[in-house]
Amino acid sequence: MSRVVWRNGRLATMAGDQPWGWIADGALVTEGERLLWVGEAEQIPDLDFDAEHDLGGAVVTPGLIDCHTHLVYGGQRAREFELRLQGASYEEIARAGGGIRSTVAATREAGEDELLALAQRRLDALLAEGVTTIEIKSGYGLSLESEARSLRVARRLRGADVRCSYLGAHALPPEFEGRQDDYVEAVCDWMVRLQQDGLVDAVDAFCEGIGFTPAQTRRVFETARRLGLPVKLHAEQLSDQGGTQLACEYQALSCDHLEYLSPEGVAALVASGTVATLLPGAYYFLRETKLPPVAALRAAGVPIAISPDHNPGTSPTLSLLLMLNMACTLFRLTPEEALRGVTVNAARALGLGDRGQLVAGQRADFCAWDIAHPNELAYYFGRNPLRRAVRAGKIR
Ligand code: NIG
Ligand code: FE
Repeated sequence: MSRVVWRNGRLATMAGDQPWGWIADGALVTEGERLLWVGEAEQIPDLDFDAEHDLGGAVVTPGLIDCHTHLVYGGQRAREFELRLQGASYEEIARAGGGIRSTVAATREAGEDELLALAQRRLDALLAEGVTTIEIKSGYGLSLESEARSLRVARRLRGADVRCSYLGAHALPPEFEGRQDDYVEAVCDWMVRLQQDGLVDAVDAFCEGIGFTPAQTRRVFETARRLGLPVKLHAEQLSDQGGTQLACEYQALSCDHLEYLSPEGVAALVASGTVATLLPGAYYFLRETKLPPVAALRAAGVPIAISPDHNPGTSPTLSLLLMLNMACTLFRLTPEEALRGVTVNAARALGLGDRGQLVAGQRADFCAWDIAHPNELAYYFGRNPLRRAVRAGKIR
């Protein structure tokens, strides 16, 4: 296994008691896919190295983790954006058969290779900003065959580690009109098949007035539990359904959106150790005015993750760095909290304990940035200072 030393970095390890886990004059030693050692430059262990790299004084962070995306789909929804600007609401468009359903139609029409090409292009944009691990949801197929195709596409993507979430309970497909409970049964049956095919790492649902009821969500989560699959939830995005409390009964990895989260919901997150994933892009693009209860989450010590929530309806952005800025400007996170949200806490939102911090034993996923301090990552918006990304010990 090749052992490599990376000298002359300013490290935001996101570990330990120092703000940012800061090491002003630091170095890393990697061995194969792992970090063997991380620390002060003057304490580099006396070992033989197969190679040496000079980080040139760059700020080094853990590789960025996008813990919530809907990356695989056909078509786009710019016309829907226009309609919303003219006054139509997201819910009205959805209830009229547009919204998610229109993307389902476009996704079903697309071939697997076409979906792959589209999704790879989107992923490449995220990679260019330092993403090394990404979660990708299905949810625009809504039939066994089409959900399987989307998840297969997610598995075939190149350049980052991919975690797949099955989001069959995203919307009601037209062929199940008026038979929502039957659809939920189908979603559960398909889950068994998709898991057998190795396509599912976690199960997600959309618990909402225009999505699925808490009782239906529970049915999906019961099946996931029986199969040993972790769950997450699109919760309290447009209204307070108590989805968070429900998800926390199932020790959800994360509850996502949370604009309408209640104090009871905050308490449930604390009790189950569930991550609150905030999605400022969707908040912004829907011109939402109700803010997620960030101060309450912070006071309760709930880990907060941040993601662009890339999807064609509520957040067509492909910039994780822009979300760092928006998490600060719109949600009042600190720049350090925002970076935690796309590193250590995003790893936790995916149930991954082996990444998200620069510490010995973790995967050697890290980014070197042309900046002097990590707070600049949230400060610039629309500018990408990535110098290089290293994934599993290899320069990408
Ligand atoms: O995360 N709210 C549900 N799901 C997506 C939007 C899906 C869509 O509109 O296509 C979200 O916001
Ligand atoms: Fe989403």
